Amino acid sequence: MERVIIRGVGSYVPECILSNADLEGMVDTTGEWIVTRTGIESRRICLDTEMASDLGCEAARRALENANISVCDVDLIVVATVTPDMRFPATACIVQEKLGGTDIPCFDVNAVCSGFIYALDVARNFLLNNSKMKNVLVIGTEKMSSIVDWEDRSTCVLFGDGAGAVVLSRDTDENSDAGILDVLIGADGNLWRLLRCPIQSPGGNVGNISEEGYFIKMEGREVFKEAIKRMCSVAEDVLQRNNLTIDDVACVIPHQANMRIISAIADRLKIPKEKMFVNLQHTGNTSAASIPIAIDEALQNGKIQPDDLVLTIAFGGGMTWGAALIHWK
Ligand SMILES: CC(C)(COP(=O)(O)OP(=O)(O)OC[C@H]1O[C@@H](n2cnc3c(N)ncnc32)[C@H](O)[C@@H]1OP(=O)(O)O)[C@@H](O)C(=O)NCCC(=O)NCCS
Repeated sequence: MERVIIRGVGSYVPECILSNADLEGMVDTTGEWIVTRTGIESRRICLDTEMASDLGCEAARRALENANISVCDVDLIVVATVTPDMRFPATACIVQEKLGGTDIPCFDVNAVCSGFIYALDVARNFLLNNSKMKNVLVIGTEKMSSIVDWEDRSTCVLFGDGAGAVVLSRDTDENSDAGILDVLIGADGNLWRLLRCPIQSPGGNVGNISEEGYFIKMEGREVFKEAIKRMCSVAEDVLQRNNLTIDDVACVIPHQANMRIISAIADRLKIPKEKMFVNLQHTGNTSAASIPIAIDEALQNGKIQPDDLVLTIAFGGGMTWGAALIHWK
């Protein structure tokens, strides 16, 4: 049976650190409030001139190097982002140019914080259904600082910028079972209003919400409850349909939104603390970049070992959710 493995991983975050102490000087908040309500201590923020394509390109370079291939070997680039450089072209095309590639199909995926899992599913299916493709670059990259309302204390403390990338390849090693075992994605469009960022449009916006501005708006408590509910159920569903239990999983990589959400999921699914990977203390919520950045850090910290079963769980605006089960190579 054809198997698709993660052959290389890389990530990149901008240099500039925005600490909770910095935020105390910007809005009416305290470092203590932010840490107790979210677990976030600092996040990285782009320079004005730094775009999602720059972060994505650097993460991709590192993933290609890690996979020991060059951009010439890439058959498709999929970028997950809600902060594209432009409305069009796709950020994936701009990344292709920055990587020095030519003639590679490119497109973006928008599933907000679940974007990476959606893109992973799309890329995996391309590889499984098109025998001419060998390697696909999947990138999650976000410049969330460009859509955050820096006067809204209830949202501006939550987000950060960054990018993560993986190289997916078909594996022909007959002695291995490694690969992406399954990906499950879902969405409930009835809940889109809970987390949104309108775009400027002369005809006004759906639901007449254009007057609220063009920044992130969120019903925090509702999103909080939905996140726990959906991430728990998608994780249970993907395990169940593969006849696995949480005991089979060596490492869980949840979307890095809020420590309290992650703890609640760990409690409900009875995931031991040491299996739950957390790095949001120094990243904040980087939306579509959160999971690939966390995978890269988990690998570097030795939290993911060859042959491990890894479960990633995502949730985001839409509302969208997703989970991937990966038998690590
Ligand atoms: C945003 C979030 C941290 C707020 O925590 P909460 O416990 O729900 O807090 P509330 O929104 O009920 O606000 C409690 C109080 O803190 C205040 N508050 C909000 N942000 C604050 C801040 N940064 N500093 C200080 N006080 C703040 C509120 O104004 C409110 O004050 P009030 O009681 O006087 O009205 C929480 O709802 C959350 O994490 N939601 C999910 C967010 C998320 O992860 N989104 C992305 C999903 S992909």
